[in-house]
Amino acid sequence: MLAVENMVKTFEGILAVDSISFRVGKGEIVGLIGPNGAGKSTILETISGFYAPTRGAILLEGKQIHGLKPHEVFKLGLTRSFQLAEFLPSFTVFDTILLPALYNAPLSEAHKRVERIIELLDLNSIAKRLVSSLVPAEQKRVEMGRILSCHPKIVLLDEIMAGLTQFEATSILSIIRNLNEEGVTFLIVEHRLELLRELCNRIIAINFGRKIAEGSPREVMDNKEVIEAYIGKGA
Ligand SMILES: Nc1ncnc2c1ncn2[C@@H]1O[C@H](COP(=O)(O)OP(=O)(O)OP(=O)(O)O)[C@@H](O)[C@H]1O
Ligand SMILES: [Mg+2]
Repeated sequence: MLAVENMVKTFEGILAVDSISFRVGKGEIVGLIGPNGAGKSTILETISGFYAPTRGAILLEGKQIHGLKPHEVFKLGLTRSFQLAEFLPSFTVFDTILLPALYNAPLSEAHKRVERIIELLDLNSIAKRLVSSLVPAEQKRVEMGRILSCHPKIVLLDEIMAGLTQFEATSILSIIRNLNEEGVTFLIVEHRLELLRELCNRIIAINFGRKIAEGSPREVMDNKEVIEAYIGKGA
């Protein structure tokens, strides 16, 4: 589904991603972990077209996507999470979820899609509220709705469960699982490793922009270099 090959990303000489290669297969839920500043967000931003890689290749279903604009990558079926509070504060919940659906559905079908999603994510009581008036846990559910509404093939999530209680995070986990059962592939950056352990079939660990381990959650979390990377940073 997704292949990243020898990807390098520098910011004015600072090496943020140092020759990373990995694959995400169709139907997988892959976790991407590493200490603060390891390069996780930069990897997601580069895959989704917000940054151009300095070197290397990114392929989605065999097609080169590096060099494409974010909306072009989105149209190929790759979508990513945003912090809604900063993004669409003056949109209602309904319109926020409607907007991405309009990329690949006529208005009447898009409306039906949104109604189904609002039902599925239990957003009925807040559908007419402005996104800016919601508490973080509600915004995260709306964000999942926005992601769902364009029928993506692969979704990149960056710390979507940060700041949520265990209960709230569990509801996001079950949404991810349901979508995955419907065939959506996920690449997930998350600091809460106990959540990833439950969710992912494979985890990739990075430090200083390089891959240091890859395997099952247990293999990666027992890996000496991974443990040292976290303890070394005081996490
Ligand atoms: N737009 C930017 N301009 C300059 N440097 C950047 C930029 N974005 C990231 N960096 C640098 O790249 C490195 C990787 O940052 P990145 O945000 O990808 O890490 P991260 O793994 O997502 O960290 P965190 O867990 O704190 O979110 C850091 O050294 C960071 O300072
Ligand atoms: Mg980050």
